[in-house]
Parts: sequence; C-alpha cells; structure tokens
Amino acid sequence: MTPILNSQLRHSPVKLYDFHPPIEDFKTSILAGLQQPQKAISPQFLYDKRGSELFDAICTLPEYYLTRTEVQLLQDHANEIATYLGNGALVEFGSGSSQKVRILLGAAPQVQTYVGLDISRQHLYEACTALAQDYPGLEAIALCTDYTQPLPIAQIPELQNRHTIGFFPGSSIGNLEPLEAVAFLQNAAVLGDLIIGVDLKKSAAILEPAYDDAQGISAAFALNLLTRINRELGANFDLSQFAYRAHYNAIAGRIEMEIVSLAEQKVSIGDVEICFDSGETLRTEYSYKYTPDEFQMLAMAAGFQPVQVWIDAQQLFSIHYLKRL
Ligand code: AVI
Repeated sequence: MTPILNSQLRHSPVKLYDFHPPIEDFKTSILAGLQQPQKAISPQFLYDKRGSELFDAICTLPEYYLTRTEVQLLQDHANEIATYLGNGALVEFGSGSSQKVRILLGAAPQVQTYVGLDISRQHLYEACTALAQDYPGLEAIALCTDYTQPLPIAQIPELQNRHTIGFFPGSSIGNLEPLEAVAFLQNAAVLGDLIIGVDLKKSAAILEPAYDDAQGISAAFALNLLTRINRELGANFDLSQFAYRAHYNAIAGRIEMEIVSLAEQKVSIGDVEICFDSGETLRTEYSYKYTPDEFQMLAMAAGFQPVQVWIDAQQLFSIHYLKRL
C-alpha cells in the first residue's frame, strides 16, 4: 500500500504517513466477525474518534487502576528507563493521546524523533501535533496503521539506519491472543529493544469493575462500536436492545468483554441480515493478564531477552525492558 503523506498541510509540524486500511476492509471484517458461530469483532474497530475519546475517559476512572499505576511507575523510574533510550527514534505503538511518552521524553531530551503509531488517524494526528508543539526540538511523525500487521518500516525514511526503540504502554498487548502477542513482539523486534507495559494477574474483585465501571463508560465504549457500524456501514442496530458485560475468566487469565443481545432480533448491515438470539453475545475484546514470568516467556519466544521489570508496591502492573537478541 502506498502511504498518503500530508504534504498538503505544509505548515504542519507533523509528518503523517497514512496506511489506514480502506473502508471495505472494515465492512468485510465486521461481516465476517458477525457471521461466525461466536460473534466477534476485532478491538481495533473500537477506536473511531468517539471511541478514542471514551477510552481516554476510561483511563481516568477510579476503577481503571492500569493507567495511573503505569504512569506512577514511569515517573518513579523515568531516569533509569531513560538510560536505555538512545538518541535516535522512539516509536510508540498504539500511541492514542501520547501522554505517557511525555514522561520518557522529559527524562530523555536526547531522543530526536518520536513516531506515534495508531489506527485512529485524527486522534493520532492531533496527539502528535500537540507533542511537536510542546517539545520544539523533537521531530514528530504520525504513522497511521494497524500495529498487528508487519510494520511498513521500509517506507519510513526516518526509521532507516538509526537507533530505534519501541514503547508499548497501556497493556494493549493483553488485547491480543497469546500467539498473536508473540507475532506482535516478533514484529516489534524488527525495530529494536522494547519498553512494554503489561497488566498483572489479580482478583476478579479488582479486575471486573475496572472493565465495567459504575458510570457506564466502559459500556458506552463497547456499544459505540454498534453506533459506528450504523453510521459507517448503514446498519440498524437498536442500541436499547443490547447490553454490555465484562467477566474475568481466571482459567484463561483474561477479561472477556462482550455485547449481549437483550432479545431475539435481526439487524441489517447494508443488504446483509444478521440474526441474534436473546442472550447471544458478541465479543468485543479480551484483555489478557500475565504474571511477570508468563510474560517473559512470551517475550523470549519472540526473540527478546528480558532485562528489567518494574512493578508497583501493590503488584498491580508491570513495565518490562526487553532487549532484542
Ligand atoms: C487498550 N487496552 C489495553 C484496554 C484494556 O485494558 O484491555 C482496552 C479496554 N477496554 C475496555 N477497557 C479498557
């Protein structure tokens, strides 16, 4: 695929490489997911503009301990982590609002180039623009792509022949199945070493409210997917006929998030009809949790050597520094 560069925005401080998949991919993928025996939709589609805003709201919820714990860990260990960052490029996977990377950039002013990589084009572009404004010497690049696919490194001149380190905060690795997580890590290893945030296993009493909060923001985030399908694919989901739930499957070590049909119903997506039984579920996300040892086994299977792990006193969250072998 040929990237679209924002050359028309001549005065923009950010260079945008756009590898966003075309709209047909969205339709094909949604229909395929809804026609499986267990209906499922890839979590990447949760992040349209509204979904990204709702996810930002989730990150500030009292129940969602992940963000504040990871931020505190990054702040507590920023100087030590900065010693691992070279003076080349820092590539953030699933960069979203690019908030956490500010802690690293503050501790490592020698970093020359920041590459934010995300599927949500507008949100990504705005976040990179804000970063470029706040760090005047920093070259900021927005790379709109799906990070579970092979990285288009060869088409990004700024990533050629330089020291590059990956940063993948937020435990987004948990949204991949373990085999997909290994494939992602293998991809990331092509770039260089990796700093990665990973949520730890813990009790359902802590985990389930983190994914089904009292204010209903997590529910709104999942159900926004149906609104998006209505808007972009001309579907007619009636949102009052669906609910959201999150359950911790301790055996599989994952939170299972799903939309539940409250009635037997038919939904049209363009000219395709999808039938739901009452109580039938549509899976929106898994969020796997790993002990430090479990995660390090995955990392080693992907060609990394675990070098350091930082964990908070309550043992909620971990940040790993992985060296590419
Ligand atoms: C992006 N990712 C790490 C979140 C998580 O914790 O699995 C996604 C999320 N979905 C609902 N709440 C949070």
